[in-house]
This record gives sequence, structure tokens and C-alpha cells, in this order.
Amino acid sequence: MSKAKTAYLCSECGAHSVKWAGQCPDCAAWNTLAETRIVAAKAATGPAVAPASLEALPDNLAMRHASGFDEFDRVLGGGLVPGAVVLLGGDPGVGKSTLLQQVSARLAEAGEPVFYATGEESLRQVGQRAQRLGLSSANLSLIADTSLENVLEQARAVSARVLVIDSIQTMSSAELPSAPGAVAQLRACVGRLVQFAKQNEVAIFIIGHVTKEGAIAGPRVVEHMVDTVLYFESDPASRYTLIRSVKNRFGASGEMGVFAMTETGFRQVRNPSAIFLSRDTVDEPGSVVSVAWEGSRPLLVEVQALVADGATAHPKRLAQGIEQNRLALLLAVLQRHGGLAIGPEDVFVNVVGGLRINETAVDLPALLAVVSSFRDRALREGLVCFGEIGLAGEIRPAKFGEERIAAAAKQGFRQAIVPAANVPRRVPEGIEVVGVKRVREVLELAF
Ligand code: TYD
Ligand code: MG
Repeated sequence: MSKAKTAYLCSECGAHSVKWAGQCPDCAAWNTLAETRIVAAKAATGPAVAPASLEALPDNLAMRHASGFDEFDRVLGGGLVPGAVVLLGGDPGVGKSTLLQQVSARLAEAGEPVFYATGEESLRQVGQRAQRLGLSSANLSLIADTSLENVLEQARAVSARVLVIDSIQTMSSAELPSAPGAVAQLRACVGRLVQFAKQNEVAIFIIGHVTKEGAIAGPRVVEHMVDTVLYFESDPASRYTLIRSVKNRFGASGEMGVFAMTETGFRQVRNPSAIFLSRDTVDEPGSVVSVAWEGSRPLLVEVQALVADGATAHPKRLAQGIEQNRLALLLAVLQRHGGLAIGPEDVFVNVVGGLRINETAVDLPALLAVVSSFRDRALREGLVCFGEIGLAGEIRPAKFGEERIAAAAKQGFRQAIVPAANVPRRVPEGIEVVGVKRVREVLELAF
């Protein structure tokens, strides 16, 4: 008999470590290492697998199912693929169960047998929510259980084509001694689900709570095992919930779907191009409208800055919705190439609506917002801008420039300041497009 080995696994990132430490050496999270017994993998048994010709393979992508929400199909890459394993992560209370219950009912109505397993709520609670949402379908079976083996057996018994696991952190497999929610348990359960999905061509949604360190492992540790990873984002101050795909084997990642939570569940927002603009503040100093590119479509956003006299010797530089380091870089460029030094003042930059913009095209609007607040002068009315800013004070083009300009024109903006390389040959009607190459030029043009 070999001695059982133990290792320390991080519940945030899943990294291994031979010794215990207060901080994970990999992701630097605190108090996340937990002792885990390592079980030697059993040699695979069962019939040997035969090869198949590529041409003879069924085309699963062509058999996508519509979820009933175009916005959800969009983040899935055009609908639900049979045999796909989709991980849905998000903070507790963001609406994961609500959305999946709505999607389950729609898929069931369309004729797909759906099996919904909840380890968090009682069937009565699920039923009450369904009633609130006005959902019912004979094709939808429910179970309140935390034993993965039993859930899979029951799902097979009803020939489910779609399986929902709510949530993976409550499920446990009898094959492992560790507690539900531990990294080893989470990995084993997801591994088992992936195998089940592929063997039976069942699409599986796995709900995972995002946890702020602690004893329960987050969905990050199993991201690599599944086909598609979606995250819910919601700002408490915003009416909208965003779902983003961060990984997708069946479509483009980085897609975003927009939903609004109502009394009767989620409603999709079909045309979100201007929902994050507040028409009251866009003409104030410190406010700039930009066109961001989210997934495969443009989105008009408002970037705000506030430059205020600092009360301390260490001026604050705070960025929300854009990267903090990017703000520091922009202020340095502004000083060197714009001749404008923001010294002891505090600088705050925020993207309205709780949005996070991960592209550099937001550089120019953020910089202009800072200048506008610093000078206490509003930008010209009806102006939008976008563009990346380089360290030499140059303004670099953004992708999809033409589409961005068209979106701004459609929303009634009359002037666009864009990187010179983004000026389209055919300018849409109603908007004037000004191409710029250097930061210095913009500071005169925009006001
Ligand atoms: P829930 O789906 O249970 O969140 P999660 O599964 O991600 O933990 O629901 C979250 C919140 O949504 C809850 O606070 C109540 C609210 N809600 C509505 O506003 N309208 C509704 O129709 C429903 C069902 C829930
Ligand atoms: Mg829930």
C-alpha cells in the first residue's frame, strides 16, 4: 500500500503547492491554500476507442438550439450546441438561477427535455420562482439533490438533452472524500460532467458562484475544462446585467449580451448601443462620449473625469471602468506631449453605468475628460471621440472605426474626433469626422 499523498491547492486559481503558505505563490490570494489528498488516477478502463473519419462526424454546430433570448444566443456563439459544457459564473444574487430557469423553460417548450438540478434551493423555492416568472413546461424536470452520481443517473433516466447544475459548488461526487466546494471535488465533478456531456451529447450549464477567497473554490479553477465560460456582471447602481463570454469553443469570445432584471425575470435589451448614455450630463465639463467596441458591436459610453484639489500630499489617481495603469500613462503623456501637468490634484475617471472597457480606444476620451474637468470647460456639443494614445503622443487607429462612426451618427452625434487613419472614405450623413494624429492637436480641436 502506498502512502496517501497530500498537496495544498489554492481555491482561487487551483495552483498546487507542496507546503502550506498564507499566500498562494501563484495568484497571490490570501488564505486560499487547503490541504488535499491526492488520489492516484485509475487507469482508464472500458472499450478501446476507434478512430473516425472527419467527414463522417455529425455537424453539431449546425444543430444549435435557440435559448429563447437572442442576447443569450449571442454570447453562446449563436445558440446552444449539443454536448457543449457552459460554465456560468457570477456573484451570488446576480441572477444566474433566474436566467437559467427562464432559458430551461424556453428550451423545454421548444421540445428539448431539460433537467434542472439544484443543490441550493428546495423544489418549493424553485417552483415559487417559476411561478413568479410565469414559467411552466411539462418537458422540464427538476431535482433537489447534491449527489452528482444521482443527478446524472436521473438525467439519463429522463433522456435529458439539456442539464443544468445549480450550483457546482454544492455538488459532490462519492468518488472523492473532500467536502463539496473544495478544489479537488469541483474538478472531479466538472470532469465527470464533461465526460457525460460528450458521451451522451447532452448540453450542460454549470452555475458557479464567484467567491471572494475562502473555503469554497471559484469557477476559475475549472475554466480550462469546459467549452464556454460566461460571466455575469452587474453594477448595483445600474439596471442592467451584462453577460460576457470569456472563452468559447463554438464562437467568438468577448461577446456581450445585455439584460434588464424586471419583476418577472430577465428581459433582453436588443439594441443596447445607447443605454449607458445619460443625456443630462454629457454636456458638462469632465464628460466625454465615446464609442466602445463590445464583442461584435459598437456601444456608446460616457467617460467622466473629475480633477479636484487634493487634500493630501499624495494625490489620488483612481480609475473605474478603465485600467488604473492606463490612467497613469495618459497623465504622463498629457504632461509631456500636451503641455498640461496635473500635479497635486486628485484625478478620478469613471465609465458610466458600471461598464468595464478593456480596449485602448478609450484612451482619447479618458484624456479629454481629464482635460475638460481640469479646465472646467465642456467639450463641444454633439461630439464623440475614440482612439488609442501612444507614449510618443501619437493617436493610433482603433479597429472598426467606420462602424463606430456610423453608430455615433445614428445616435445623433454631429462631430467625431478620430485617429487620422480611421477617417472613412465615405462619411455617414449628418456627422463631421475630424482625423487627428497628435495629442496636442486634439486639445485645441475638442473645445
Ligand atoms: P437569483 O437568480 O436567485 O441569483 P443567483 O442564482 O445568481 O444567486 O436572483 C437574484 C436576484 O434577482 C434576487 O435578489 C431577486 C431578483 N429577482 C428579480 O428582481 N426579479 C425576478 O423575477 C426574480 C426571479 C428575481
Ligand atoms: Mg442561485
